[in-house]
Amino acid sequence: MLAGPMNSFDQAVSVVYDALSAIRTNASGPLPRADRAALERLASAPEAAGAPAPAPEAKLPSRSQPEPQPAPIPVRADASAKPAAPEPAAEPSQSQAERLEALRQRFAECGKCPNLAGTRTHVVFGVGNPEARLMFVGEAPGADEDREGEPFVGRAGQLLTKIIQAMGYERSDVYIANVLKCRPDMPPGETGNRKPRPDEMATCLPYLIEQIEIIRPRCLVALGATAMEGLLGEPAVMRQVRGRWHKFRDIPLMATYHPAYLLRNQSMAEKRKVWEDMLLVLEKLGDPISAKQRGYFLPKSQ
Ligand code: URA
Repeated sequence: MLAGPMNSFDQAVSVVYDALSAIRTNASGPLPRADRAALERLASAPEAAGAPAPAPEAKLPSRSQPEPQPAPIPVRADASAKPAAPEPAAEPSQSQAERLEALRQRFAECGKCPNLAGTRTHVVFGVGNPEARLMFVGEAPGADEDREGEPFVGRAGQLLTKIIQAMGYERSDVYIANVLKCRPDMPPGETGNRKPRPDEMATCLPYLIEQIEIIRPRCLVALGATAMEGLLGEPAVMRQVRGRWHKFRDIPLMATYHPAYLLRNQSMAEKRKVWEDMLLVLEKLGDPISAKQRGYFLPKSQ
Protein backbone atom coordinates (compact mmCIF):
# COMPACT_ATOMS: atom_id res chain seq x y z
CA MET A 1 0.00 0.00 0.00
CA LEU A 2 1.34 3.41 -0.87
CA ALA A 3 1.60 6.16 1.70
CA GLY A 4 2.92 9.07 -0.34
CA PRO A 5 2.90 10.20 -3.94
CA MET A 6 4.11 7.58 -6.40
CA ASN A 7 7.06 8.18 -8.54
CA SER A 8 7.07 5.17 -10.83
CA PHE A 9 4.97 2.51 -12.39
CA ASP A 10 6.74 0.08 -10.08
CA GLN A 11 4.87 1.63 -7.21
CA ALA A 12 1.67 1.86 -9.16
CA VAL A 13 1.54 -1.82 -9.94
CA SER A 14 2.18 -2.71 -6.33
CA VAL A 15 -1.32 -1.59 -5.39
CA VAL A 16 -3.07 -3.35 -8.22
CA TYR A 17 -3.55 -6.46 -6.13
CA ASP A 18 -5.68 -4.63 -3.57
CA ALA A 19 -7.64 -2.68 -6.09
CA LEU A 20 -8.45 -5.47 -8.47
CA SER A 21 -9.05 -7.94 -5.72
CA ALA A 22 -11.71 -5.65 -4.25
CA ILE A 23 -13.31 -4.95 -7.61
CA ARG A 24 -13.40 -8.54 -8.76
CA THR A 25 -14.51 -9.95 -5.41
CA ASN A 26 -17.41 -7.50 -5.34
CA ALA A 27 -18.30 -8.02 -8.98
CA SER A 28 -18.12 -11.74 -9.43
CA GLY A 29 -16.89 -13.62 -6.41
CA PRO A 30 -13.30 -14.44 -5.42
CA LEU A 31 -10.52 -14.05 -7.94
CA PRO A 32 -9.66 -17.11 -9.98
CA ARG A 33 -6.42 -18.71 -8.79
CA ALA A 34 -4.47 -17.64 -11.88
CA ASP A 35 -5.49 -13.99 -11.34
CA ARG A 36 -4.59 -14.20 -7.69
CA ALA A 37 -1.18 -15.68 -8.41
CA ALA A 38 -0.41 -13.05 -11.04
CA LEU A 39 -1.50 -10.21 -8.81
CA GLU A 40 0.29 -11.59 -5.76
CA ARG A 41 3.49 -11.72 -7.79
CA LEU A 42 3.06 -8.03 -8.50
CA ALA A 43 2.20 -7.14 -4.92
CA SER A 44 5.06 -9.08 -3.36
CA ALA A 45 7.79 -8.24 -5.86
CA PRO A 46 6.96 -5.16 -7.89
CA GLU A 47 10.62 -4.88 -8.94
CA ALA A 48 10.30 -8.24 -10.60
CA ALA A 49 7.75 -6.67 -12.87
CA GLY A 50 10.78 -5.20 -14.63
CA ALA A 51 11.58 -8.64 -16.00
CA PRO A 52 9.52 -9.93 -18.90
CA ALA A 53 6.31 -11.25 -17.39
CA PRO A 54 5.90 -15.04 -17.22
CA ALA A 55 3.03 -16.25 -19.39
CA PRO A 56 0.09 -15.81 -17.04
CA GLU A 57 -3.33 -17.33 -17.36
CA ALA A 58 -5.19 -14.26 -16.14
CA LYS A 59 -7.99 -13.12 -18.41
CA LEU A 60 -9.35 -9.65 -19.01
CA PRO A 61 -12.38 -8.87 -16.86
CA SER A 62 -15.44 -10.49 -18.35
CA ARG A 63 -18.13 -8.41 -19.99
CA SER A 64 -21.82 -9.00 -19.57
CA GLN A 65 -22.86 -7.87 -23.07
CA PRO A 66 -21.38 -9.19 -26.32
CA GLU A 67 -19.55 -6.31 -27.95
CA PRO A 68 -20.33 -5.07 -31.45
CA GLN A 69 -17.66 -6.24 -33.85
CA PRO A 70 -16.16 -3.61 -36.15
CA ALA A 71 -16.57 -4.10 -39.88
CA PRO A 72 -13.67 -5.67 -41.83
CA ILE A 73 -10.70 -3.38 -42.37
CA PRO A 74 -10.01 -2.87 -46.05
CA VAL A 75 -6.33 -2.85 -46.91
CA ARG A 76 -5.51 0.66 -48.09
CA ALA A 77 -6.16 0.98 -51.80
CA ASP A 78 -3.23 3.34 -52.16
CA ALA A 79 -0.79 1.07 -50.31
CA SER A 80 2.02 0.65 -52.79
CA ALA A 81 3.49 -2.41 -51.12
CA LYS A 82 2.10 -5.82 -51.93
CA PRO A 83 2.01 -8.76 -49.51
CA ALA A 84 5.24 -10.78 -49.53
CA ALA A 85 3.39 -13.77 -50.91
CA PRO A 86 -0.14 -14.16 -52.29
CA GLU A 87 -2.60 -14.23 -49.47
CA PRO A 88 -4.21 -17.67 -49.23
CA ALA A 89 -7.92 -17.61 -48.53
CA ALA A 90 -8.51 -18.12 -44.81
CA GLU A 91 -10.23 -21.38 -43.98
CA PRO A 92 -13.54 -20.55 -42.29
CA SER A 93 -12.62 -23.06 -39.58
CA GLN A 94 -9.26 -21.43 -38.79
CA SER A 95 -8.88 -19.82 -35.39
CA GLN A 96 -7.42 -16.35 -35.01
CA ALA A 97 -4.25 -17.96 -33.62
CA GLU A 98 -3.96 -20.16 -36.71
CA ARG A 99 -4.54 -17.24 -39.05
CA LEU A 100 -1.90 -15.17 -37.24
CA GLU A 101 0.55 -18.04 -37.44
CA ALA A 102 -0.10 -18.38 -41.18
CA LEU A 103 0.52 -14.66 -41.57
CA ARG A 104 3.72 -14.90 -39.54
CA GLN A 105 4.99 -17.70 -41.76
CA ARG A 106 4.09 -15.82 -44.93
CA PHE A 107 6.26 -12.88 -43.92
CA ALA A 108 9.07 -14.80 -42.17
CA GLU A 109 11.35 -14.34 -45.17
CA CYS A 110 10.04 -10.94 -46.27
CA GLY A 111 12.57 -9.12 -48.45
CA LYS A 112 10.62 -6.01 -49.42
CA CYS A 113 13.18 -3.78 -47.71
CA PRO A 114 16.54 -5.29 -48.75
CA ASN A 115 18.47 -3.06 -46.32
CA LEU A 116 16.42 -4.39 -43.37
CA ALA A 117 16.24 -8.00 -44.57
CA GLY A 118 20.02 -7.98 -44.92
CA THR A 119 20.72 -6.84 -41.37
CA ARG A 120 17.91 -8.21 -39.21
CA THR A 121 18.18 -11.27 -36.98
CA HIS A 122 14.41 -11.81 -36.79
CA VAL A 123 11.25 -10.51 -38.34
CA VAL A 124 9.61 -9.35 -35.09
CA PHE A 125 6.04 -10.37 -35.69
CA GLY A 126 4.06 -9.60 -32.55
CA VAL A 127 3.11 -11.22 -29.28
CA GLY A 128 0.07 -11.73 -27.13
CA ASN A 129 -3.53 -12.83 -27.24
CA PRO A 130 -4.73 -13.45 -30.83
CA GLU A 131 -8.21 -12.43 -29.61
CA ALA A 132 -7.07 -9.40 -27.62
CA ARG A 133 -9.51 -6.54 -27.08
CA LEU A 134 -6.56 -4.18 -26.70
CA MET A 135 -3.59 -3.89 -29.05
CA PHE A 136 -0.48 -1.75 -28.57
CA VAL A 137 1.45 -0.62 -31.63
CA GLY A 138 5.04 0.60 -31.40
CA GLU A 139 7.34 1.89 -34.08
CA ALA A 140 9.99 -0.77 -34.76
CA PRO A 141 12.10 -3.39 -33.00
CA GLY A 142 15.30 -2.29 -31.31
CA ALA A 143 18.43 -4.36 -30.78
CA ASP A 144 16.91 -6.42 -27.93
CA GLU A 145 13.75 -7.16 -29.89
CA ASP A 146 15.73 -8.06 -33.02
CA ARG A 147 17.83 -10.50 -31.00
CA GLU A 148 14.86 -12.12 -29.21
CA GLY A 149 12.28 -11.93 -31.98
CA GLU A 150 9.66 -10.38 -29.67
CA PRO A 151 8.46 -6.76 -29.53
CA PHE A 152 9.02 -4.60 -26.46
CA VAL A 153 11.39 -6.79 -24.45
CA GLY A 154 14.06 -4.15 -23.75
CA ARG A 155 13.88 -1.43 -21.10
CA ALA A 156 11.03 0.40 -22.81
CA GLY A 157 9.22 -2.92 -23.16
CA GLN A 158 9.62 -3.68 -19.49
CA LEU A 159 8.02 -0.34 -18.68
CA LEU A 160 5.21 -1.10 -21.13
CA THR A 161 4.63 -4.38 -19.26
CA LYS A 162 4.30 -2.44 -16.00
CA ILE A 163 1.80 -0.05 -17.58
CA ILE A 164 -0.24 -3.01 -18.84
CA GLN A 165 -0.16 -4.57 -15.37
CA ALA A 166 -1.13 -1.29 -13.71
CA MET A 167 -4.18 -1.33 -16.01
CA GLY A 168 -5.09 -4.70 -14.49
CA TYR A 169 -4.00 -6.91 -17.39
CA GLU A 170 -1.10 -9.18 -18.18
CA ARG A 171 1.05 -8.96 -21.26
CA SER A 172 -0.57 -12.14 -22.54
CA ASP A 173 -4.05 -10.55 -22.35
CA VAL A 174 -3.23 -7.86 -24.91
CA TYR A 175 -1.47 -7.93 -28.28
CA ILE A 176 1.75 -6.03 -28.95
CA ALA A 177 3.22 -5.33 -32.39
CA ASN A 178 5.13 -2.67 -34.28
CA VAL A 179 4.43 -0.81 -37.48
CA LEU A 180 7.80 -1.94 -38.83
CA LYS A 181 8.64 -5.59 -38.27
CA CYS A 182 12.39 -5.40 -38.83
CA ARG A 183 14.97 -3.46 -36.87
CA PRO A 184 15.99 -0.31 -38.77
CA ASP A 185 19.55 -0.85 -39.97
CA MET A 186 22.27 1.43 -38.66
CA PRO A 187 25.07 3.03 -40.65
CA PRO A 188 28.23 0.90 -40.52
CA GLY A 189 30.07 1.32 -37.23
CA GLU A 190 27.11 2.97 -35.46
CA THR A 191 25.23 1.38 -32.60
CA GLY A 192 21.83 2.29 -31.12
CA ASN A 193 18.52 2.57 -32.88
CA ARG A 194 17.22 4.84 -35.58
CA LYS A 195 13.66 5.91 -36.33
CA PRO A 196 11.99 3.94 -39.09
CA ARG A 197 11.59 5.99 -42.29
CA PRO A 198 8.09 6.77 -43.57
CA ASP A 199 8.72 4.69 -46.71
CA GLU A 200 9.78 1.69 -44.61
CA MET A 201 6.67 1.99 -42.45
CA ALA A 202 4.41 2.37 -45.49
CA THR A 203 5.93 -0.78 -47.02
CA CYS A 204 5.27 -2.77 -43.84
CA LEU A 205 1.84 -1.31 -43.01
CA PRO A 206 -0.24 -3.85 -44.99
CA TYR A 207 1.28 -6.53 -42.78
CA LEU A 208 0.10 -4.74 -39.61
CA ILE A 209 -3.30 -4.18 -41.18
CA GLU A 210 -3.64 -7.91 -41.72
CA GLN A 211 -2.70 -8.54 -38.08
CA ILE A 212 -5.34 -6.07 -36.93
CA GLU A 213 -7.88 -7.58 -39.30
CA ILE A 214 -7.31 -11.01 -37.74
CA ILE A 215 -7.21 -9.88 -34.09
CA ARG A 216 -10.01 -7.31 -34.41
CA PRO A 217 -9.16 -5.45 -31.17
CA ARG A 218 -11.73 -3.06 -29.72
CA CYS A 219 -9.00 -0.44 -29.09
CA LEU A 220 -5.61 0.37 -30.50
CA VAL A 221 -2.92 2.32 -28.66
CA ALA A 222 -0.15 3.94 -30.71
CA LEU A 223 3.02 4.23 -28.65
CA GLY A 224 4.76 7.40 -29.72
CA ALA A 225 4.50 9.87 -32.57
CA THR A 226 6.36 7.63 -35.02
CA ALA A 227 3.89 4.78 -34.51
CA MET A 228 1.05 7.26 -34.98
CA GLU A 229 2.68 8.52 -38.19
CA GLY A 230 3.14 4.95 -39.40
CA LEU A 231 -0.54 4.17 -38.80
CA LEU A 232 -2.08 7.35 -40.19
CA GLY A 233 0.51 8.17 -42.84
CA GLU A 234 1.13 11.74 -41.71
CA PRO A 235 3.49 13.31 -39.17
CA ALA A 236 2.08 13.55 -35.65
CA VAL A 237 2.99 15.78 -32.71
CA MET A 238 2.33 13.78 -29.57
CA ARG A 239 1.23 16.65 -27.35
CA GLN A 240 -1.41 17.45 -29.97
CA VAL A 241 -2.70 13.95 -30.67
CA ARG A 242 -2.57 12.24 -27.27
CA GLY A 243 -5.47 12.12 -24.83
CA ARG A 244 -8.23 11.91 -27.41
CA TRP A 245 -9.70 9.30 -29.69
CA HIS A 246 -8.72 8.86 -33.30
CA LYS A 247 -9.70 6.08 -35.67
CA PHE A 248 -7.61 3.59 -37.55
CA ARG A 249 -10.11 2.40 -40.12
CA ASP A 250 -13.09 1.85 -37.86
CA ILE A 251 -11.17 1.02 -34.68
CA PRO A 252 -10.80 3.58 -31.85
CA LEU A 253 -7.14 4.62 -31.65
CA MET A 254 -5.49 6.30 -28.66
CA ALA A 255 -2.08 7.91 -28.98
CA THR A 256 0.25 8.20 -26.04
CA TYR A 257 3.91 8.77 -25.32
CA HIS A 258 6.33 5.95 -26.10
CA PRO A 259 7.61 4.24 -22.91
CA ALA A 260 11.15 5.17 -23.98
CA TYR A 261 10.10 8.81 -23.60
CA LEU A 262 9.03 8.10 -20.01
CA LEU A 263 12.41 6.50 -19.34
CA ARG A 264 14.08 9.71 -20.49
CA ASN A 265 11.61 12.00 -18.73
CA GLN A 266 10.81 10.64 -15.28
CA SER A 267 8.52 13.49 -14.19
CA MET A 268 5.24 12.62 -12.48
CA ALA A 269 3.43 14.99 -14.83
CA GLU A 270 4.50 13.05 -17.94
CA LYS A 271 3.69 9.70 -16.32
CA ARG A 272 0.28 11.04 -15.39
CA LYS A 273 -0.39 11.98 -19.02
CA VAL A 274 0.28 8.43 -20.16
CA TRP A 275 -1.80 7.12 -17.30
CA GLU A 276 -4.72 9.40 -18.19
CA ASP A 277 -4.57 8.04 -21.73
CA MET A 278 -4.71 4.51 -20.32
CA LEU A 279 -7.70 5.42 -18.14
CA LEU A 280 -9.49 6.53 -21.31
CA VAL A 281 -8.65 3.16 -22.83
CA LEU A 282 -10.02 1.30 -19.79
CA GLU A 283 -13.19 3.38 -19.99
CA LYS A 284 -13.56 2.65 -23.70
CA LEU A 285 -13.17 -1.06 -23.00
CA GLY A 286 -15.72 -0.87 -20.20
CA ASP A 287 -13.31 -2.42 -17.72
CA PRO A 288 -13.34 -1.57 -14.00
CA ILE A 289 -11.20 1.28 -12.68
CA SER A 290 -10.54 1.52 -8.96
CA ALA A 291 -10.27 4.78 -7.06
CA LYS A 292 -6.61 4.02 -6.54
CA GLN A 293 -6.05 3.52 -10.22
CA ARG A 294 -7.78 6.83 -10.92
CA GLY A 295 -5.38 8.51 -8.50
CA TYR A 296 -2.06 7.17 -9.82
CA PHE A 297 0.56 9.85 -10.41
CA LEU A 298 -1.57 12.66 -9.06
CA PRO A 299 0.11 15.04 -6.62
CA LYS A 300 -0.82 14.12 -3.04
CA SER A 301 -2.96 17.21 -2.46
CA GLN A 302 -5.30 16.50 -5.38
N1 URA B 1 10.29 0.36 -29.29
C1 URA B 1 9.33 0.05 -30.17
O1 URA B 1 8.69 0.93 -30.71
N2 URA B 1 9.09 -1.23 -30.40
C2 URA B 1 9.72 -2.21 -29.81
O2 URA B 1 9.43 -3.38 -30.07
C3 URA B 1 10.72 -1.88 -28.88
C4 URA B 1 11.00 -0.59 -28.63
